[in-house]
Amino acid sequence: MINIRNTTKLDRDSVREIHLCAFPENENQAVSKLAVDLLDEDTTPETISLVAEVGGSLVANIGFSPVTIHDNQEWSGYILAPLAVKPEYQKSQLGSGLIKNGIEQLSNKDVNMLFVYGDPKYYGKFGFKPELASNYAPPYTLKHSFGWLALTLKEDISIQLPTQISCIDSLNHPELW
Ligand SMILES: CC(C)(COP(=O)(O)OP(=O)(O)OC[C@H]1O[C@@H](n2cnc3c(N)ncnc32)[C@H](O)[C@@H]1OP(=O)(O)O)[C@@H](O)C(=O)NCCC(=O)NCCS
Repeated sequence: MINIRNTTKLDRDSVREIHLCAFPENENQAVSKLAVDLLDEDTTPETISLVAEVGGSLVANIGFSPVTIHDNQEWSGYILAPLAVKPEYQKSQLGSGLIKNGIEQLSNKDVNMLFVYGDPKYYGKFGFKPELASNYAPPYTLKHSFGWLALTLKEDISIQLPTQISCIDSLNHPELW
Protein backbone atom coordinates (compact mmCIF):
# COMPACT_ATOMS: atom_id res chain seq x y z
CA MET A 1 0.00 0.00 0.00
CA ILE A 2 1.22 3.51 -0.85
CA ASN A 3 0.98 6.20 1.80
CA ILE A 4 1.85 9.85 1.06
CA ARG A 5 2.51 11.96 4.16
CA ASN A 6 4.46 15.02 5.32
CA THR A 7 8.15 14.38 5.91
CA THR A 8 9.45 14.83 9.48
CA LYS A 9 12.96 15.53 10.73
CA LEU A 10 13.14 11.86 11.82
CA ASP A 11 13.00 10.90 8.11
CA ARG A 12 16.26 12.76 7.37
CA ASP A 13 18.43 9.69 6.65
CA SER A 14 15.82 8.00 4.44
CA VAL A 15 15.26 11.22 2.48
CA ARG A 16 19.01 11.64 1.92
CA GLU A 17 19.24 8.03 0.72
CA ILE A 18 16.34 8.43 -1.77
CA HIS A 19 18.09 11.31 -3.55
CA LEU A 20 21.57 9.77 -3.32
CA CYS A 21 20.45 6.65 -5.16
CA ALA A 22 18.05 8.33 -7.65
CA PHE A 23 20.30 11.11 -9.00
CA PRO A 24 23.57 10.65 -10.90
CA GLU A 25 26.80 11.04 -8.95
CA ASN A 26 27.59 14.49 -10.28
CA GLU A 27 24.36 15.88 -8.77
CA ASN A 28 23.32 13.59 -5.94
CA GLN A 29 25.31 15.21 -3.11
CA ALA A 30 23.93 18.69 -3.76
CA VAL A 31 20.35 17.49 -4.30
CA SER A 32 20.25 15.22 -1.24
CA LYS A 33 21.62 18.10 0.86
CA LEU A 34 18.82 20.32 -0.47
CA ALA A 35 16.16 17.71 0.36
CA VAL A 36 17.45 17.41 3.94
CA ASP A 37 18.01 21.16 4.38
CA LEU A 38 14.34 21.82 3.50
CA LEU A 39 13.34 19.94 6.67
CA ASP A 40 15.01 22.67 8.76
CA GLU A 41 13.51 25.61 6.85
CA ASP A 42 11.11 27.67 8.96
CA THR A 43 9.61 29.83 6.22
CA THR A 44 6.37 31.80 5.94
CA PRO A 45 4.51 30.49 4.03
CA GLU A 46 5.71 27.03 4.98
CA THR A 47 8.15 24.84 3.11
CA ILE A 48 6.50 21.49 2.32
CA SER A 49 8.20 18.10 2.08
CA LEU A 50 6.27 14.91 1.29
CA VAL A 51 7.32 11.28 1.28
CA ALA A 52 5.79 8.18 -0.29
CA GLU A 53 5.89 5.13 1.95
CA VAL A 54 5.56 1.62 0.51
CA GLY A 55 5.40 -1.31 2.92
CA GLY A 56 6.82 0.86 5.71
CA SER A 57 9.83 2.07 3.66
CA LEU A 58 10.29 5.59 2.38
CA VAL A 59 10.84 5.36 -1.39
CA ALA A 60 10.12 8.82 -2.83
CA ASN A 61 10.40 12.44 -1.71
CA ILE A 62 9.37 15.86 -3.01
CA GLY A 63 9.93 19.41 -1.75
CA PHE A 64 8.03 22.67 -2.31
CA SER A 65 9.43 25.97 -1.03
CA PRO A 66 8.15 29.54 -1.33
CA VAL A 67 9.56 32.00 -3.87
CA THR A 68 9.05 35.75 -3.66
CA ILE A 69 8.92 38.82 -5.86
CA HIS A 70 10.52 41.96 -4.45
CA ASP A 71 7.94 44.55 -3.35
CA ASN A 72 4.92 42.34 -4.00
CA GLN A 73 3.49 40.82 -0.82
CA GLU A 74 0.20 39.83 -2.48
CA TRP A 75 1.59 37.37 -4.99
CA SER A 76 2.37 33.86 -3.73
CA GLY A 77 4.74 31.50 -5.55
CA TYR A 78 6.39 28.17 -4.84
CA ILE A 79 9.05 26.07 -6.49
CA LEU A 80 8.99 22.27 -6.73
CA ALA A 81 12.47 20.90 -5.85
CA PRO A 82 13.72 18.32 -5.42
CA LEU A 83 11.81 15.20 -6.55
CA ALA A 84 13.19 11.66 -6.56
CA VAL A 85 11.86 8.12 -6.59
CA LYS A 86 14.17 5.20 -5.69
CA PRO A 87 15.17 3.48 -8.96
CA GLU A 88 13.41 0.18 -8.19
CA TYR A 89 10.13 2.05 -7.57
CA GLN A 90 10.22 4.31 -10.63
CA LYS A 91 7.47 4.22 -13.29
CA SER A 92 4.87 3.24 -10.67
CA GLN A 93 3.20 6.68 -10.59
CA LEU A 94 4.85 7.59 -7.26
CA GLY A 95 6.45 10.72 -8.71
CA SER A 96 3.11 11.69 -10.26
CA GLY A 97 1.31 11.03 -6.97
CA LEU A 98 3.66 13.31 -5.03
CA ILE A 99 3.38 16.09 -7.63
CA LYS A 100 -0.44 15.93 -7.68
CA ASN A 101 -0.66 15.84 -3.88
CA GLY A 102 1.58 18.92 -3.65
CA ILE A 103 -0.33 20.82 -6.34
CA GLU A 104 -3.58 20.13 -4.48
CA GLN A 105 -2.15 21.42 -1.18
CA LEU A 106 -0.80 24.58 -2.84
CA SER A 107 -4.08 25.22 -4.67
CA ASN A 108 -5.84 25.20 -1.29
CA LYS A 109 -3.35 27.80 0.00
CA ASP A 110 -4.20 30.41 -2.67
CA VAL A 111 -0.78 30.08 -4.34
CA ASN A 112 -0.55 31.89 -7.70
CA MET A 113 2.29 30.06 -9.41
CA LEU A 114 4.33 26.91 -9.03
CA PHE A 115 7.76 26.76 -10.75
CA VAL A 116 9.97 23.81 -11.50
CA TYR A 117 13.37 23.41 -13.14
CA GLY A 118 13.19 20.02 -14.83
CA ASP A 119 12.40 17.94 -17.89
CA PRO A 120 9.52 19.55 -19.87
CA LYS A 121 8.50 16.11 -21.19
CA TYR A 122 7.84 14.85 -17.66
CA TYR A 123 6.46 18.00 -16.02
CA GLY A 124 4.41 18.98 -19.09
CA LYS A 125 2.00 16.17 -18.19
CA PHE A 126 1.00 18.14 -15.09
CA GLY A 127 0.48 21.42 -16.97
CA PHE A 128 3.91 23.01 -16.42
CA LYS A 129 4.89 25.15 -19.44
CA PRO A 130 8.02 27.14 -20.39
CA GLU A 131 5.95 30.07 -21.68
CA LEU A 132 4.35 30.55 -18.25
CA ALA A 133 7.81 30.80 -16.61
CA SER A 134 9.56 32.93 -19.20
CA ASN A 135 8.65 36.30 -17.63
CA TYR A 136 9.92 35.25 -14.17
CA ALA A 137 13.73 35.32 -14.06
CA PRO A 138 15.14 32.59 -11.78
CA PRO A 139 17.70 33.50 -9.08
CA TYR A 140 20.67 32.14 -11.10
CA THR A 141 21.49 31.68 -14.78
CA LEU A 142 20.22 28.23 -15.78
CA LYS A 143 22.43 25.60 -17.39
CA HIS A 144 19.38 24.29 -19.32
CA SER A 145 17.02 27.22 -19.83
CA PHE A 146 14.41 25.05 -21.63
CA GLY A 147 13.77 23.37 -18.25
CA TRP A 148 12.43 26.53 -16.55
CA LEU A 149 8.69 25.83 -16.29
CA ALA A 150 5.64 27.10 -14.43
CA LEU A 151 2.06 26.21 -13.70
CA THR A 152 -0.55 28.87 -12.94
CA LEU A 153 -2.69 27.89 -9.95
CA LYS A 154 -4.46 31.24 -9.49
CA GLU A 155 -4.22 34.19 -11.90
CA ASP A 156 -2.76 37.44 -10.54
CA ILE A 157 -3.46 40.21 -13.06
CA SER A 158 -1.82 42.91 -10.92
CA ILE A 159 1.70 41.59 -11.36
CA GLN A 160 4.25 43.65 -13.32
CA LEU A 161 6.13 41.46 -15.81
CA PRO A 162 8.91 40.64 -16.48
CA THR A 163 10.10 40.21 -12.91
CA GLN A 164 12.77 38.51 -10.84
CA ILE A 165 12.03 35.82 -8.28
CA SER A 166 14.00 34.99 -5.13
CA CYS A 167 14.24 31.63 -3.40
CA ILE A 168 14.89 30.44 0.15
CA ASP A 169 18.41 29.88 1.55
CA SER A 170 18.47 26.10 0.94
CA LEU A 171 18.02 26.67 -2.81
CA ASN A 172 20.23 29.75 -3.00
CA HIS A 173 23.27 27.90 -4.39
CA PRO A 174 24.31 28.27 -8.05
CA GLU A 175 25.15 24.54 -8.40
CA LEU A 176 21.44 23.72 -7.97
CA TRP A 177 20.41 25.77 -11.04
C1 LIG B 1 11.72 11.64 -12.76
C2 LIG B 1 11.12 10.77 -11.66
C3 LIG B 1 10.91 11.61 -10.40
C4 LIG B 1 9.78 10.23 -12.17
O1 LIG B 1 9.14 9.52 -11.12
P1 LIG B 1 8.33 8.18 -11.41
O2 LIG B 1 7.60 7.81 -10.17
O3 LIG B 1 9.26 7.17 -12.00
O4 LIG B 1 7.34 8.67 -12.55
P2 LIG B 1 5.82 8.27 -12.72
O5 LIG B 1 5.67 6.80 -12.47
O6 LIG B 1 4.98 9.19 -11.98
O7 LIG B 1 5.64 8.57 -14.24
C5 LIG B 1 6.20 7.64 -15.12
C6 LIG B 1 6.12 8.19 -16.51
O8 LIG B 1 6.99 9.32 -16.64
C7 LIG B 1 7.95 9.03 -17.63
N1 LIG B 1 9.18 9.67 -17.25
C8 LIG B 1 9.94 9.47 -16.17
N2 LIG B 1 11.01 10.28 -16.22
C9 LIG B 1 10.89 11.01 -17.34
C10 LIG B 1 11.66 12.00 -17.95
N3 LIG B 1 12.79 12.46 -17.42
N4 LIG B 1 11.21 12.53 -19.13
C11 LIG B 1 10.08 12.10 -19.68
N5 LIG B 1 9.31 11.14 -19.16
C12 LIG B 1 9.73 10.61 -18.00
C13 LIG B 1 8.05 7.53 -17.67
O9 LIG B 1 8.55 7.10 -18.92
C14 LIG B 1 6.59 7.14 -17.48
O10 LIG B 1 5.86 7.31 -18.67
P3 LIG B 1 4.53 6.44 -18.93
O11 LIG B 1 3.59 6.73 -17.78
O12 LIG B 1 4.05 6.95 -20.24
O13 LIG B 1 5.02 5.03 -18.93
C15 LIG B 1 12.02 9.55 -11.33
O14 LIG B 1 12.29 8.86 -12.52
C16 LIG B 1 13.35 9.92 -10.67
O15 LIG B 1 13.44 9.97 -9.46
N6 LIG B 1 14.39 10.16 -11.48
C17 LIG B 1 15.71 10.50 -10.96
C18 LIG B 1 15.74 11.84 -10.30
C19 LIG B 1 15.18 12.93 -11.19
O16 LIG B 1 15.52 13.03 -12.36
N7 LIG B 1 14.31 13.76 -10.60
C20 LIG B 1 13.61 14.83 -11.29
C21 LIG B 1 14.47 16.01 -11.31
S1 LIG B 1 13.62 17.42 -11.91
